[in-house]
Amino acid sequence: MDDVTEAEREGGSVNPLRDPQDRRLPRIPEPCALVIFGVTGDLARKKLLPAVYDLANRGLLPPGFVVLGFARRDWGDGDFETLACEAARKHARTPWRDEVWARLAGNIKFVGGSFDDDDAFDTLASTLDDLRQTHGITGNAAFYFSIPPAAFPVVLKQLARTGMADNDKSGGWRRVVVEKPFGNDLPSAKALNDLVDDVFTRQDVFRIDHYLGKETVQNILALRFANNLFEPLWNSKYVDSVQITMAEDVGIGTRAGFYDTVGTARDVLQNHLLQLLALVAMEEPTSFDADEIRAEKLKVLKAITLPKDVARDTVRGQYLPGWVGGERAVGYLEEQDVPADSTTETYVAVRLGIQNRRWAEVPFYIRAGKRLPRRVTEVAIIFKKAPHLPFNDADMESLGNNQLVIRVQPDEGVVLKFGSKVPGTTMEVRDIAMDFQYGEAFTESSPEAYERLVLDVLIGDRTLFPDAAEVEQSWQVIDPLEHAWEGTTPEPYRAGEWGPRASDEMLAREGRAWRRA
Ligand code: BG6
Repeated sequence: MDDVTEAEREGGSVNPLRDPQDRRLPRIPEPCALVIFGVTGDLARKKLLPAVYDLANRGLLPPGFVVLGFARRDWGDGDFETLACEAARKHARTPWRDEVWARLAGNIKFVGGSFDDDDAFDTLASTLDDLRQTHGITGNAAFYFSIPPAAFPVVLKQLARTGMADNDKSGGWRRVVVEKPFGNDLPSAKALNDLVDDVFTRQDVFRIDHYLGKETVQNILALRFANNLFEPLWNSKYVDSVQITMAEDVGIGTRAGFYDTVGTARDVLQNHLLQLLALVAMEEPTSFDADEIRAEKLKVLKAITLPKDVARDTVRGQYLPGWVGGERAVGYLEEQDVPADSTTETYVAVRLGIQNRRWAEVPFYIRAGKRLPRRVTEVAIIFKKAPHLPFNDADMESLGNNQLVIRVQPDEGVVLKFGSKVPGTTMEVRDIAMDFQYGEAFTESSPEAYERLVLDVLIGDRTLFPDAAEVEQSWQVIDPLEHAWEGTTPEPYRAGEWGPRASDEMLAREGRAWRRA
């Protein structure tokens, strides 16, 4: 109510038009263009173009809005529109509405050319200029790099050469959106950050980590800081350990060219999983301002400690042939374009610590892998057992540790596991689960991560985008691990199993076990 003015309080109602800061109102960007490089690629077709349609369908795009595609094709606007239409029909989250598409279709433009083609970039610049007159985009543009990192330097150079990266000259804002991987190690991440910083100001750089766009990931902050119930217990006095799991049932598909050069640690641990850890472990920010949240995340990332004995407290795995979901799956080495002697990991488990008062001695076990039995991402806070149990041992046999499980996907929600008396004449206590599911508690369905993130870029809200310092700090965690793993061979596991046996042994040595996710 603090935001409500005196007069509004007296009138008994709030006029939303008089309170543009009200966060409950849908946020709509200023007129702008979304320029997508690599528009014919998978990411653009499966995520970005459908997200644009979903935003249009929800009425969240401004009247002056253009999607401007750039790719090496001899195409006109109509060809790109056909691709965008197919992509949206196939992958959009919200229902298809012809009238929404009809409006959007008039705002879909294309410029063809290769990244080293000066003429093509000159055309792109003049097209952007023209769109100010014809579509009222007022010079605002976001450049989305849906392209391999190797192409970043040349595209950045072109944006600088043509003045397109320049906020002032254009009379509107210019932003750049970069997809992971943000480098391959600390030096390459720094070089990439420097490169981008040379052309764009820091606040105009948006690094996408799509996990931060997931509703349930954002809910970690709401759960922790909007309630009084959990935070008093959120520390080493009550928490035994934290488990973060990102399991995928799929293999690497046709991505061998990329995946075999990175492996699971660089692909998802460096970014998605360390971001999850940071949200779970960070201190309360003074506000939900982007810089405040980033500062707290950075502190936690800096406090991460690596295992003293990497060979003992980490596990790398690689899948063998097996069965997943009733279907035969080939082994990693048989996947298309994977070298027969590849030692790239498709599974990783690590035991990390956090060196601060809140988390001293609490292990953070993190695992991620492909071709595991099912797709599930979750964070589990495992609480210590009650210091004293005034019951018979036999009655406690089915009682485990209390657990708070944040289910990121699928079945998004939160589960609280605690002991309860089994009905009957004895005092038998057994674990039960209190289950909150997004799908049941809310009538609204959650936006797709990219829907949220594309909108935030256009609005200029940086809260859900890791900054350069976080990215570099995450590499400080990964680089020593990669270094220690050099020359080692990953442990085999069958497709459809929960990773190598060594991963279970890693926890068993400490009297713990992975949660059955
Ligand atoms: C990507 C990784 O960042 O995340 C992929 O490169 C992985 O290897 C994907 O499959 C998983 O995303 P999601 O949203 O399906 O959990």
